[in-house]
Amino acid sequence: MAKLTVNDLDLKNQRVFMRVDYNVPMEEKDGKMVINDTTRIKETLPTLKLLISNGAKVILAAHLGRPKGTKEPSMSLAPVAVKLSEMVGQPVAFVDDCIGEKVEKAVAELKAGGILLLENVRYYNEEEANDPAFAEKLAKLADVYVNDAFGAAHRAHASTEGIARVVAKSGGKCAAGLLMERELKFLGDELENPARPFVVILGGSKVSDKIKVIDRLLEKADSILIGGAMAYTFKLAHGVKTGKSLIEPDHKGTALAAEEKAKTRKVNFQLPTDTIIATPVDSGKLNKKGKPVYDLTNIRTISGDIPDDAEGFSIGPETSANYAKIIAGAKTILWNGPMGMFEDARFAEGTNAVARAVVEATQKNGAKSIIGGGDSVKALNKAGLGDKVTFMSTGGGASLEFLEGQELPGVAALSNK
Ligand code: 3PG
Repeated sequence: MAKLTVNDLDLKNQRVFMRVDYNVPMEEKDGKMVINDTTRIKETLPTLKLLISNGAKVILAAHLGRPKGTKEPSMSLAPVAVKLSEMVGQPVAFVDDCIGEKVEKAVAELKAGGILLLENVRYYNEEEANDPAFAEKLAKLADVYVNDAFGAAHRAHASTEGIARVVAKSGGKCAAGLLMERELKFLGDELENPARPFVVILGGSKVSDKIKVIDRLLEKADSILIGGAMAYTFKLAHGVKTGKSLIEPDHKGTALAAEEKAKTRKVNFQLPTDTIIATPVDSGKLNKKGKPVYDLTNIRTISGDIPDDAEGFSIGPETSANYAKIIAGAKTILWNGPMGMFEDARFAEGTNAVARAVVEATQKNGAKSIIGGGDSVKALNKAGLGDKVTFMSTGGGASLEFLEGQELPGVAALSNK
C-alpha cells in the first residue's frame, strides 16, 4: 500500500523528527574523525530543503557504526553536523545526546526552518532493542515523524520503527522522506513491470547471501549474469575444480536448483567462462587483526579447472565481453554485487568492464540502470561512473532484503496514504 510522503504533510512550525542514515564511512586523521564519503548525507538534502522551506523545525536522528550501547567517541555524529551544515548551507545545531532534558531544551529552542542533529541513537542499547520506553522518549520530541533512512529501514529499532507507532498512536503522521520514496520507487515499483529485456547482474561472495534475490528475480528477469566468488560455488556444483577459491559446498544444491528454475522459466542464466586466478603465498607477515598476509602471485586467466594451489579473484575478459554484449541489449538493468575483488586494481577490470557496459546501455540506449547498493555502488564510484546510471541505492543490507521481497519494518511502520 502507498505510504504517506513529506509532500502530503502540513509542516509549518511542526517539530519534524526525521530518521536519516548517516552511517557514513569515517577514518581517523591527525586525531580527528574525517568522513570519507558524504553520499548518504547528500541524498537527504532534498528532503531537508523541503522541510526547511516549509517552515518545519527539523530534528535529525541517526546511528553511526555499532557502539552497542557505549558512548564510543569515534562513533559520535558531531563531525556529521559540521559537514551537514556545510552541505545544506545553514547552521546545524548538535546536541550530545538523543533523549532527556538537554535534548528537549534544544528542541524547544529550535526556530522554524532550523535543524538540530541528535547524537548517535545506538549509544543506548534500547535503540536496537526497540525498547518501547525509549521510543516514547524519542517521540516526545516529535509532532510528525519522517523516515528518510532507507539504509536502516530493515532494522526494527526504536528510531526506525518503535517511534512511528508512538507518534501514530497520539495522532501524528508518519511519512516517507523523498530519498525513501525514490528508493522504494526504483528498487520496488520500477522492477515490478520492467521494460524488457530485463538484465540482472549479481555478484558478491556468497550464494547463501544472494539466493533469495536470485530466486525472486528468476520470476522477472530475461537474463541473469553471475560473477564474484559466488560463481565458484556454481562451478563446484558442476564438478569443476575451484582450488582455494571461496566456496560454499553446502550450497551446491541451491546453485543447481536456481539453474534448474532458470531453465524452466527460460531465463538466460550465465556463469563465467573464464576466471582471473592467482597463487596465494604466505608472506610471513601478519595484518592488524593478527591474520597471515598472503602475496597474490602468478596472476593469470584460465578457463575450466582452477589449480589446487590457486584462487579465483574475478571474472575474466571473455566473460566480461559476453556480459557486456548482453547488457548492451537491455532496457532495464539491476546490478547487485561486484564481479571480483575490485578493491585491488589487479582484479578490478571485470567489474569495471561491467560498469562501463551498464553506463553505455544507460547513456546510449536509454536503459534504466538501477544499482542495488553496497559494494556495487562503491565499485561504480571508484571507476568514476557513479553519476552515469539511473539510480544508485544508499542501502546495503536494506536493498538486499527489499529486493528479496521482504517487508522492511521501517517502511511498514509509516502511515498509509
Ligand atoms: C548500513 O550501513 O547498511 C546501515 O546504516 C545499517 O547499518 P547496520 O547494518 O549496522 O544496522
